[in-house]
Amino acid sequence: MISGTRSGSYEMSTHLLNTTRPRTGNASENASRPNAISVTNLSYRAAGNKGRSIEILNNVDLTVKEGEFVAIVGPSGCGKSTLLNLIAGLIKVEGDSLSVFGAPVRGISPRIGYVFQTHALLPWRSVLKNVEIGMEMRGESATERRQRAMDALKQLGLEGFEDHYPSEISGGMRQRVSLARTLVAGPDILLMDEPFGALDAQTKLLIQDLFIEYWENHRKTVVFVTHDLSEAITMADRILVMSSRPGRFKSAYSIDIERPRHLAHVRTMPQYTMYWERIWEDLKEEAKTAMLTRATGG
Ligand SMILES: Nc1ncnc2c1ncn2[C@@H]1O[C@H](COP(=O)(O)OP(=O)(O)OP(=O)(O)O)[C@@H](O)[C@H]1O
Ligand SMILES: [Mg+2]
Repeated sequence: MISGTRSGSYEMSTHLLNTTRPRTGNASENASRPNAISVTNLSYRAAGNKGRSIEILNNVDLTVKEGEFVAIVGPSGCGKSTLLNLIAGLIKVEGDSLSVFGAPVRGISPRIGYVFQTHALLPWRSVLKNVEIGMEMRGESATERRQRAMDALKQLGLEGFEDHYPSEISGGMRQRVSLARTLVAGPDILLMDEPFGALDAQTKLLIQDLFIEYWENHRKTVVFVTHDLSEAITMADRILVMSSRPGRFKSAYSIDIERPRHLAHVRTMPQYTMYWERIWEDLKEEAKTAMLTRATGG
């Protein structure tokens, strides 16, 4: 558990959620599980300048198994957030190119939790009230709501900040509140869009370790978008590399590192360096293309 103080410092203990982490679990185990998310031949265009439409995604195929942790890396602007928005049902598409637990996506689903790239907290609600919002909408009792929200806040090092408003806490804290809000809703699928991107370096390491432990205990289906290769390798079962816009998946890497994983340990492993070098080699080309396209206004 992480315990927080009002000065914002943390202390890790090993009994988060009082469960034992499974000893095994890697990419090969996922093959026989049912699909949680299926994306088939999905293309998406949005309105651009001067009435022209721009192609954001091109023939995207993606299958995520139940309980699998998939990370997506790709250059800025390649369509990662757009893809998550489509899976979440926030952007509507016709046809059956997108399905979640076997049913076509036709709007938002309570089985999906979304941690947005920006925290998206409601400024007029306190930290506690922000975390409680999903439970409130489902009509859960005030006592139950408070208990679960306080527990999540405590685990994310935010105890003592429950009555603050989003404007009174730091960016990193706001992002943790957003994570708490999503986790207490108990979704089956977590879509996470650079959830730790705004955290300072040390807090990021602490929260990453905490989240790995949370995931290993709960085995939710996760699609995790990040620009941080180290983060992706440390956490995911599989990493998908997206091309520059129009985005499509150009390669996939199964991360065959035994669980439970601990950040400090994983980063000393020879496989870690190998994955990092190979994936960066792949990603670098796309990042260069995206940078040149932006520089030339394409
Ligand atoms: N509603 C929209 N209308 C027009 N263009 C859009 C719309 N949404 C996204 N875009 C454009 O689509 C492209 C992909 O955007 P998206 O936010 O999905 O990228 P991303 O991969 O998440 O980037 P980043 O890594 O910077 O977050 C960008 O060029 C963006 O400007
Ligand atoms: Mg994005």
